[in-house]
Amino acid sequence: MMTLAGALGALAFPLLRRLDAETAHGLGLSLLRFAPAQAVPASPALSTDLAGLPLAHPLGLAAGFDKNGVALKGLLRLGFAFVEAGTATLHPQAGNPRPRLFRLPADRAIVNRMGFNNQGVENLAERLRGSPPEEGVVGANIGLNKDSRTPEADYAAALRAVHAGAAYVAVNVSSPNTPGLRALQARRALQPLLRALSLAREEAASGGERRRALLLKVAPDLAEAEALGIVEAAIEAGIEGLIVANTTVARPPGLRSPAAEEGGGLSGAPLRDPALRLLRLMAGEAKGRLAFVACGGIAGGADAYARILAGASAVQVYTAFAYEGPAFLPRLLNELLACLARDGFASVGAARGSALS
Ligand SMILES: Cc1cc2nc3c(=O)[nH]c(=O)nc-3n(C[C@H](O)[C@H](O)[C@H](O)COP(=O)(O)O)c2cc1C
Repeated sequence: MMTLAGALGALAFPLLRRLDAETAHGLGLSLLRFAPAQAVPASPALSTDLAGLPLAHPLGLAAGFDKNGVALKGLLRLGFAFVEAGTATLHPQAGNPRPRLFRLPADRAIVNRMGFNNQGVENLAERLRGSPPEEGVVGANIGLNKDSRTPEADYAAALRAVHAGAAYVAVNVSSPNTPGLRALQARRALQPLLRALSLAREEAASGGERRRALLLKVAPDLAEAEALGIVEAAIEAGIEGLIVANTTVARPPGLRSPAAEEGGGLSGAPLRDPALRLLRLMAGEAKGRLAFVACGGIAGGADAYARILAGASAVQVYTAFAYEGPAFLPRLLNELLACLARDGFASVGAARGSALS
């Protein structure tokens, strides 16, 4: 039976699809602030954790959907186990000129080149203060201003701003829409950055704040050696985990929508296989020493299950939720429960990593 949120979503989402993509997104976000609670499957088999944070189930909302944290309560009411607000940068910025968000419906995909349009970390920190932990798990994703000349100091300052109010902090070094950002994934740049972030976190914790988990969000376009270098750097630096992955600059063959030609990051179905392959590689290398959040092209329970088998403790979605609306959540979770039961796994934890050699 369809829930009220599902029914409203089924009505609103096709209407929103008639508008230009960014206008529709803004309107959708405003509506979601008032979303009624949606019941999603609850089962001990689904419970999991994200770097030690207990989650009722593994499904979360990926960064970029609610960059400024304006609809956190509504999004949690839809049934996400966690929501990642941001990306927020140290200073507010306007992002790239519009249009910068394109639907590729025939490919179940999106291309975006938003360029970190956001109201800045102080603003997000304020919103996080209005979203107490009992309402659900909210992480904060931080990035870099386009004109930053001091990446380590800016990321550290952004971390200090959001640290108290966020359940975890995700560090985005993988957006394709900020020139030079992805170069921070190279080991020589990543090591000092992770050191600066770890230090900023220790300072916050020694000032009495609870020490938050740090997760690094990586690009799906990494060469194998780069990916393995990131795993080693993350373990060395003592951060808790990786989010695999952000949008891709690649354009896999066979895309049918004209908007595939637009510049920016591609998300959704075409990202599914590359994101799964990268997760397998990185989680296989980490051997339990890092937590993994899988992201990219997850469109149903079977996809979520495949990521859990490949080592993920939790999964995030953006594009499939944007296309399908609130009813996506109970569908995915029911399908995931069926996958676990079919293969005789008592829980997400029991299944996690079992496809890794
Ligand atoms: C319009 C749009 C904006 C995004 N903005 C951000 C962002 O600000 N920060 C970030 O880390 N990822 C951002 N992402 C990437 C998503 O969080 C996610 O990594 C990616 O879309 C792959 O997941 P999906 O295939 O389920 O969409 C954005 C994605 C889209 C489609």
